[in-house]
Amino acid sequence: MKSGDDQPLWREEFSVRKADENYVSRRQLTKFLTLTSLGMFVGNLWILGKNWMNKDATFPVRAIARLGEIPVGSVKLFEYPGPKDQCLLVRTSEDSYVAYSQKCTHLSCAVYYSAKENRLECPCHQGYFSIRDGSVLQGPPTRPLPRVVLERRGSELIAVRMQDQPEG
Ligand code: FES
Repeated sequence: MKSGDDQPLWREEFSVRKADENYVSRRQLTKFLTLTSLGMFVGNLWILGKNWMNKDATFPVRAIARLGEIPVGSVKLFEYPGPKDQCLLVRTSEDSYVAYSQKCTHLSCAVYYSAKENRLECPCHQGYFSIRDGSVLQGPPTRPLPRVVLERRGSELIAVRMQDQPEG
C-alpha cells in the first residue's frame, strides 16, 4: 500500500531516509574505529605497565646445587624462578658453572646440553646456543637464552635472579 506522496507505508512508519542511513553508518563506523583505537591504546598501556612492573620483579634467592654435586660436563635440571620454569645448570669445568632457562627463545622447545659439542641445542629446529653466554650460534632463534645469575655461598650454588641477555 502506498501513501499519498508515493512512499511505501513502512517508510512513513520508519522515517529513515537513505541519506540518514548512510549518516548513521558513518557515525557507527566512526564510533567503532574510536572504540577500537581506545581499546588498542588501553591494551598497549596495560602491556607497557606489565613490562615495567616485570623489570622491577624480585626473584627468589634459592640454593640449586651443592658445589661438586655434578661431574664436569654434566647437567642438573632445576626450576627457577617459578615452579614451572625449567632451567639447566651445567658444570663447564672443575670450578665453573653456568645456568640458563631451558626454554628455547624460538618456539619454546626444551634445550639440552651437548657435551660433545659443548653447546646448548634445541632439537626442534636445530637452534644452537653458546654455553659461554647463551648467545645464538645457529638456527632460527634470534634472542639468546635467559641466564640464571648464580652466586656461591659456602658450599652451595645459589640462583639469585634471571638476566635477559642483550641480543647478539
Ligand atoms: S623451538 Fe628451538 S629452534 Fe625452534
